[in-house]
Amino acid sequence: LSSVPDCERVAYRLQAFERRLAAREERSAPQKKQLAFFARYDGTRTNQFYFDRFVRLTDVPGGQSLLALAESTPDGHRSAAHNYLTHGLHAYKGKYFPQVVRSLLNSAGVAPGARIVDPFVGSGTTSLEASLMSCTAHGIDQNPLAALIARTKVAALRLPNAELRPMEAEIVGEMKRAYKGDLPNEAYLARWFPPDNLRLVGRVLGAIERAAVPQAMADVARLTLSALLRAWSLQEPTQLRIFRRPTAPDAASLRARFVADLQTTVASLRVGSRLLRELGISLGEVSVLEGDARESATWIADCDALVTSPPYATALPYIDTDRLSIYALGLAEIGERSDLEWSMIGNREIRKRQRAELEEQLDENAAGLPGAVIKDILAIRSRNQATGVGFRRENLPSLLYRYFADMQTVLRRAAESLKPGALVAIVVGDSFTMAGTKRVRIRTADALCETASNLGFKTDERIAMGGQVGYLPHQRNTIPAEEILILRSPKRP
Ligand SMILES: C[S@@+](CC[C@H](N)C(=O)[O-])C[C@H]1O[C@@H](n2cnc3c(N)ncnc32)[C@H](O)[C@@H]1O
Repeated sequence: LSSVPDCERVAYRLQAFERRLAAREERSAPQKKQLAFFARYDGTRTNQFYFDRFVRLTDVPGGQSLLALAESTPDGHRSAAHNYLTHGLHAYKGKYFPQVVRSLLNSAGVAPGARIVDPFVGSGTTSLEASLMSCTAHGIDQNPLAALIARTKVAALRLPNAELRPMEAEIVGEMKRAYKGDLPNEAYLARWFPPDNLRLVGRVLGAIERAAVPQAMADVARLTLSALLRAWSLQEPTQLRIFRRPTAPDAASLRARFVADLQTTVASLRVGSRLLRELGISLGEVSVLEGDARESATWIADCDALVTSPPYATALPYIDTDRLSIYALGLAEIGERSDLEWSMIGNREIRKRQRAELEEQLDENAAGLPGAVIKDILAIRSRNQATGVGFRRENLPSLLYRYFADMQTVLRRAAESLKPGALVAIVVGDSFTMAGTKRVRIRTADALCETASNLGFKTDERIAMGGQVGYLPHQRNTIPAEEILILRSPKRP
């Protein structure tokens, strides 16, 4: 905390990396009320003060001030502080804390109207934060569910407050009517849901489709359903990858659950849109493109900052994990699945022929990756060759090569689309793998820094994130070392 006499940090205990971020943002934020790790500054409450209390604010009658209510409410705990407004709309793997993004945008010194890009926007933490700071946000993600969540997080906050309840009633009312339409990807879904549960999925989707509500409200309802699908299905809900379980809960209790969840979401939207109005926040424009960050057509020009968390080198199975939602909501067809998987950076599905091609590229270093990166990959390969390993581990050198080459391509796109000297923040984690008989570290953060440096980016600071509070709780064992790489984009040639 700096020399400024009258400022106060947020109430939960900050980890070391958050204190670094707090120091950075305090130095550069053009508007101190936007600070992420401060509850007050110069005697004035920050927006974050109110966000941290958001989950405790019940819907108060029209005339009363929500701000006054917040001021007499104790602060929320850490997890509440990470889920204000629509940040908690839908779970997403690899989602990061909004405060990380906000503090980085403050570090970048962005003012309203600045153009912010996130090429791996996921569930839209960056785009929502940028929009809350009245910036123009552009997000890219190859996972169609991610794009839907990211878009809806902002669009839902723009829905007219007075119409939220009637819209909810309209959808619930439509659910009383029988479903007559076609479920997308029905044959596939029938293998994963008990028949009654699948009929209910169809009924809910049919009701949403028929209800006379704006698209953003329909999407809120679709995502409310999506968040429940795994629990309604025959997929083991606790596993990221696909495991079957013998039974699922019966449809009678599920209908009530959907309605209750929709009501909770709508109540929280009502509080959210009022809070924004009372705080005088006008949301910046957001565009989210469902597409591949390696392609220049998915980017926009003249961006002022980039804040992102890319997939990990040994990636999470994004499409696999979200597949029931993707197919039930009709966001992709079953036949598109393998192309979609293959286009995900860091994916682990690879065919023999693809591996042979990648091995060749690795031997020649066709992508021109930094020598140290190639050396690490080759070391893993020779250890594995020496001991003879299964196909998954045999594939690893080619997959790592592809991952780093892909990330190099994305960094090139970033260099093209950012203004020179723009702040680039990449939240990334190293991972471990067995190579031969030894556990070796995949030095992703170093590799990305070296790759970026070859492309003309300058490293400003690297902030290690380690700490007691799991940043990605389900990955605590596999991703031990998260880092925030803070770079500056290259001068234009
Ligand atoms: C760590 S997650 C980002 C999470 C995000 N920061 C959030 O708060 O929700 C990485 C994202 O990269 C996306 N991705 C993977 N390959 C991609 C590609 N080729 N183009 C664009 N996005 C891709 C995945 O779908 C995933 O959503």
